[in-house]
Amino acid sequence: MKNLGKRAFLTRAVHAGERAPSGKHTPVVSPIHPSVGYFYESMDELDAVFDARQEGYVYLRYGSPTVAAFETAVAELEEGEAAQAFASGMGAIHAALLAVGVRAGTTVVTTLDVYGATTLLLQRLLTEMGVTVRLVDMTGPETLEAILAKTHPVALLVETISNPLMKVADIPSLATLAHQYGTKVLVDNTFASPYLFNPLLHHADYVIHSVTKYIGGHGDVMGGVVISSTENRKKLNDLNRLVGGVLGPFEAWLALRGCKTLPLRVREQCANAARVAQWLAEHPSVDRVNYPGLRSHPQHNLASRLFGGRGFGGALSFEIKKADRATVFRFMDSLDLCLPAATMGDIYTLVLHPATASHRSLSTEERARAGINEGLVRISAGIEDANDIIADLEQALAAVP
Ligand SMILES: Cc1ncc(COP(=O)(O)O)c(C=O)c1O
Repeated sequence: MKNLGKRAFLTRAVHAGERAPSGKHTPVVSPIHPSVGYFYESMDELDAVFDARQEGYVYLRYGSPTVAAFETAVAELEEGEAAQAFASGMGAIHAALLAVGVRAGTTVVTTLDVYGATTLLLQRLLTEMGVTVRLVDMTGPETLEAILAKTHPVALLVETISNPLMKVADIPSLATLAHQYGTKVLVDNTFASPYLFNPLLHHADYVIHSVTKYIGGHGDVMGGVVISSTENRKKLNDLNRLVGGVLGPFEAWLALRGCKTLPLRVREQCANAARVAQWLAEHPSVDRVNYPGLRSHPQHNLASRLFGGRGFGGALSFEIKKADRATVFRFMDSLDLCLPAATMGDIYTLVLHPATASHRSLSTEERARAGINEGLVRISAGIEDANDIIADLEQALAAVP
């Protein structure tokens, strides 16, 4: 379809990536191409495709039509030039860091409460390989500008909405500041989804998604994607040809299908999360609710501005009053509808205990420094009726002392 870029997000979500020219017959829905290799009538032709003098596919690790259809769709939804898919969100984050030039002797800056595995990737693996990692507390005494000026990092990695404390990053200001110091800006936009926010329109250099979450949306596909310029996409593809963290064609097909209903799902999830957050904020057993849609949230105005009234995200977190691990476990065991499962962004309402799940691998001190207490619970709102979700939470909260 031509001129997709001029159409609304809902329209682009349905049609993006589909009906790439494929010979005589063009199916309405992109087919799954499981083939690993591609056949050409002559060796000259194969040689030309290998050399990128002719368009085509050679070998699944380098690229394939189904994966390309998904990459085209997600680049369209993030308003980027191009995208490279990966086998998981972590594969995507790792590749983006390497593509931007993270090597021994360089510095990376990130925020305190990013996803647990991202913290570990930076603080353990990359640190052991000679990379300096600085965790910045955006509300702390040492400002980001002071750290940038002192360390001139190659990369600033931030989450649009942080996991699990739902802090909202001022991407436009951070990007302007980081670029003054020659630092590239990598935004993990998983929690916001392309429906709420497009970081590339606000000068980010790379946008990353765990496709496993809102883009897939049904809890049945694992994947990752990085959206950037065509030039950066080439770097990412060259890297993935060597390290091989490729998205499979079946997964790509599911992810492409997920794109079509992304805005509808996220709209419902935002509405449900807002209802649940408001209800929890008034509950006597609840201490603190972290949700950007609440007026009490420190970045509520920023979130309103960045997300343009489309919503405030489908996830929230809260603390049960005076709760220790046993209390939280009892609450989660008492749930009947909401599922205690270690993922988010699905059509099902999911509840997670960050201290023993997403941030389990951090030490107790690291969690405390990030503000992740034992009593913290994260909810990812599904698309069920909000009254049913609230009724389930109510009976489970009543079951804890
Ligand atoms: C914000 C964020 N980024 C990245 C990831 C990693 O994604 P994946 O599990 O697909 O590797 C997660 C996983 O929970 C996440 O929450």
